[in-house]
Amino acid sequence: MFKNKTFGSLLILVSVYVVAFYYKVLPELWKKSLRLTKNNSVLNNDIPYDVIDAYYQSNYGSCQHSVVTENKINCKKLIENETPVTQVIPVNVSRICNLTKITENCQLFRHINGYDDKVITQLEEDFPLAFGIRLYNSPEQVEQLLRIIYRPHNFYCIHVDTGSDKSIFNSLKAVARCFENVVVLSKIRTVYSSIRLVEADLLCMKEALKSSVQWKYFLNMAGEEVPLKTNLEMVQICQLLQERSDIESKPANALARDRIKWAFNVTEFKMIKTSVLKKPFTGNFLLRKGSAYGTFARKFVQFVLNNDKANKLFEFLKDTYAPEEAFFNTLNTVNGAPGGNNITITHSKRDFLSRTVLWSWDRPKCPGVLRRYVCVFNNKALPWLVKQPELIANKMDGDYDQVVIDCMEEYLRNKTLQADITGFNKTRYLQYPHIKDLHNRNLWDKI
Ligand SMILES: *[C@@H]1O[C@H](CO)[C@@H](O)[C@H](O)[C@H]1NC(C)=O
Ligand SMILES: *[C@@H]1O[C@H](CO)[C@@H](O)[C@H](O)[C@H]1NC(C)=O
Ligand SMILES: *[C@@H]1O[C@H](CO)[C@@H](O)[C@H](O)[C@H]1NC(C)=O
Ligand SMILES: *[C@@H]1O[C@H](CO)[C@@H](O)[C@H](O)[C@H]1NC(C)=O
Ligand SMILES: *[C@@H]1O[C@H](CO)[C@@H](O)[C@H](O)[C@H]1NC(C)=O
Ligand SMILES: *[C@@H]1O[C@H](CO)[C@@H](O)[C@H](O)[C@H]1NC(C)=O
Ligand SMILES: *[C@@H]1O[C@H](CO)[C@@H](O)[C@H](O)[C@H]1NC(C)=O
Repeated sequence: MFKNKTFGSLLILVSVYVVAFYYKVLPELWKKSLRLTKNNSVLNNDIPYDVIDAYYQSNYGSCQHSVVTENKINCKKLIENETPVTQVIPVNVSRICNLTKITENCQLFRHINGYDDKVITQLEEDFPLAFGIRLYNSPEQVEQLLRIIYRPHNFYCIHVDTGSDKSIFNSLKAVARCFENVVVLSKIRTVYSSIRLVEADLLCMKEALKSSVQWKYFLNMAGEEVPLKTNLEMVQICQLLQERSDIESKPANALARDRIKWAFNVTEFKMIKTSVLKKPFTGNFLLRKGSAYGTFARKFVQFVLNNDKANKLFEFLKDTYAPEEAFFNTLNTVNGAPGGNNITITHSKRDFLSRTVLWSWDRPKCPGVLRRYVCVFNNKALPWLVKQPELIANKMDGDYDQVVIDCMEEYLRNKTLQADITGFNKTRYLQYPHIKDLHNRNLWDKI
């Protein structure tokens, strides 16, 4: 009897402590681990207004720095669906800012284009990301993409197609000159649907591993993509993956198998089907198919660059059609691939986290125009885009509608300044097939 009483009060006492621990102590510890650091570079507060103004007059002149400001467009209302849709407004090609000129003074360029005025949380500093961006044209749009995703502790690699106008490489070089963590390469003619796309990604992955940034995830991108999440949200999402990669992947169907049947000749401009039958692949793993883009864990990237099976697969895919939609996707299922798994991840089931993309056959119907069956979004898509769970939208083009890009920039900038760590709602993410099995025993989710 007595024993039971003691036991009972002990139980109550323990429960009180446990509850107090979860509701009092942990939140405090948590808050402490999230020390906010606001990165206002030294000069930001010190540059006199007239110095900025004089530089703007001389180096920006009348170039079109922001389409939404110039047209007095209220992005907030567009996003909240309160105003009728604005018409699409492309960039004014006769007033494009000259990247070489606006970067003459790096500090003023960084200040005016908003590179340094970002709130960076401890969570993000402890979890750097690396980005590889491939482009063929529109260096100004890539500069805008860079200023949206730029953080001083991350790493950025930009690959310019060797077939592009030389001035594109030079202007992005001028931009990169202003940052220690941005490199620009131009080594490969990135022929559509060819192995060259994989090669350009691999080059950037190599650069990323060479850098001193201890990044945790590498994201490959195209120059015409725009993120839907802030750096903080990207980090919070990547952390849920626990060193797995997010790669679209399903067993290769007949069409995909057909693409590896005949050898293709990668010429300077396009892929040409030859009459040479390829020898079947001899590796003891099955071909998978999926998006060329993904979110790759650091150890997986090392595996891709150094492992024998990866080299073998690369050699096999070299003369096949659309190998960029098979290489990473297959490697992620190979025995021994870090974080590797056989989970089927598809866009059609909305399991693929890395990209929001609308194909011509998808629902909702494309709020924009279709190009090569892919939707190029316009500002009508904004209310929908900000609700999507994926990291990055494919794609947007300022020569079609600059409003949607400028508004996404403003939206993400506001969110970045709020640095609301506790606002991240992971419920939806915990349901992804490649995330849920990692978290189902997690006590944290239950409280
Ligand atoms: C903020 O920017 C300054 C100047 O560029 C740099 O020295 C510092 O390391 C940055 N701090 C963070 C937290 O990134
Ligand atoms: C961003 O914040 C500014 C200043 O508070 C506000 O005027 C603007 O409407 C906000 N934009 C968006 C897209 O939320
Ligand atoms: C583009 O800018 C030029 C030069 O300022 C101007 O004359 C022209 O009307 C603008 N075009 C459009 C479509 O706004
Ligand atoms: C851009 O500016 C640079 C440096 O001021 C100049 O040499 C170059 O001709 C300009 N390019 C264009 C297309 O105006
Ligand atoms: C590939 O195409 C080029 C240009 O047409 C040709 O010169 C070359 O011989 C072809 N290579 C193969 C292996 O067919
Ligand atoms: C995926 O399945 C294949 C074939 O059953 C197997 O050989 C491979 O080890 C699996 N991969 C992983 C990462 O479990
Ligand atoms: C989080 O998201 C889930 C579904 O995605 C929703 O049911 C839930 O209400 C959200 N929680 C909060 C606090 O917003």
